[in-house]
Amino acid sequence: MKILIVGNGGREHAIAWKLAQSPRVEKLWCAPGNAGIAQVAECVKIGAEDIEALCAFAAEKEVDMAVIGPEVPLAMGVVDEIEKRGIRAFGPNKKCAQLEASKAFTKAFLDRHQIPTAGYKEFTDKEELKKAVGMYGYPMVLKADGLASGKGVVIAENEAEALKAVEEMMGDRVFGTAGDKVVVEEFLTGIEASMLCFVDQHTIVPMESAQDYKRIFDGDKGPNTGGMGSYSPSLVFTRELEEQIRESILEPTLKGFQEDGLDFRGVLFIGLMIGEDGPKVIEFNNRFGDPETQSVLARLDSDLTDIFEAVIDNRLSDQEIRWSDRRAVSVVLASAGYPASSDKGRVISGLDQVDSDVIVFHAGTAFAGAEDGCGEPAVVTNGGRVLAVTATGATHDEAREKAFANVERIHFQGMQYRKDIGTIVKR
Ligand code: AMP
Ligand code: GLY
Repeated sequence: MKILIVGNGGREHAIAWKLAQSPRVEKLWCAPGNAGIAQVAECVKIGAEDIEALCAFAAEKEVDMAVIGPEVPLAMGVVDEIEKRGIRAFGPNKKCAQLEASKAFTKAFLDRHQIPTAGYKEFTDKEELKKAVGMYGYPMVLKADGLASGKGVVIAENEAEALKAVEEMMGDRVFGTAGDKVVVEEFLTGIEASMLCFVDQHTIVPMESAQDYKRIFDGDKGPNTGGMGSYSPSLVFTRELEEQIRESILEPTLKGFQEDGLDFRGVLFIGLMIGEDGPKVIEFNNRFGDPETQSVLARLDSDLTDIFEAVIDNRLSDQEIRWSDRRAVSVVLASAGYPASSDKGRVISGLDQVDSDVIVFHAGTAFAGAEDGCGEPAVVTNGGRVLAVTATGATHDEAREKAFANVERIHFQGMQYRKDIGTIVKR
């Protein structure tokens, strides 16, 4: 089987690493990839959003399957375009990709199908929104409707902050057209958790649970990031909670897709708030989470190509998905300045000192001298989140200790990471 993976983050490295283990895979390409992905796949100089070039490459190489990592090409309709060339693609089509590309679309879906979520109202007029600040009290949740690299949500503590956020989103248009519509939500309290699910037309199957750490500093302090670490399984999930989520969220979501004619096939990432009145949906993403994937796929025993094919062919209910009992912890190493800015070109040392059973997934890395991240030997930083050091162990504590022991062997100038990954952080 010949597979093209689209993307260049730690998530795509984890997907590539797992696919490369399949005896069914004869060739893997990744567009554009990074220095770590280059160990398991051939990197191709095509950007993840260059839909035309991706389709042309897939057709020329006669790939059997394209696997799409990030949300932007999905929202651009890359799956529809690849399928038009008669090539199979893993990921939702453009219509379904609105579940991540428009917060208002998802809120309307959740409301229509009575799936628990925060109350909301949408605004397209700046002055009207200014009059409505504080409508649910404070903190006030404001969300740019469109895609904003995970940065489009503002939690304003008071009126001044709320008015500033309105001006930035709708006046200065800091998120571009993503902020032309703004969704205001009730503020939810509780513990956040992520649930990644494989979905086809008939079935929704949650993967093993995982926990993400979104803030930059220990103790959940500082600005939001793409994610500073993860572990799996979650320490806050119980059988009872999983059952509750299945009944109140997963089943109505699948039924909602069927009723609305949404042919969702791919990974649905459900951001949850577990509060006193039960689990509620914070958001839907329509792809694997990053860095949840690094911990979750480290525990997958089944062949990922089989699962991807079963999803594409609507055979997910027949597919056995086996998980390891081992625990996984993944610690993200980030560049100086992240998330506001990111330093590039710092030489990374110590990668060869890492234990053989520890996996260092690469995100923002490149080979020195190569603009596109593929080509020369020295590995350097090339983005905000640089590496995700992933360890497994018989117990959660063993995995956690092993991950941090290996983190300490890796160095680059300005390297920052959270020391509390793998602990339960109370807010
Ligand atoms: P989102 O991009 O919608 O997941 O939002 C990013 C982060 O903002 C979430 O992970 C939460 O920490 C926070 N957040 C989003 N919506 C709410 C809400 N309604 N209540 C409280 N926190 C929220
Ligand atoms: N870890 C959060 C995300 O992938 O959106």
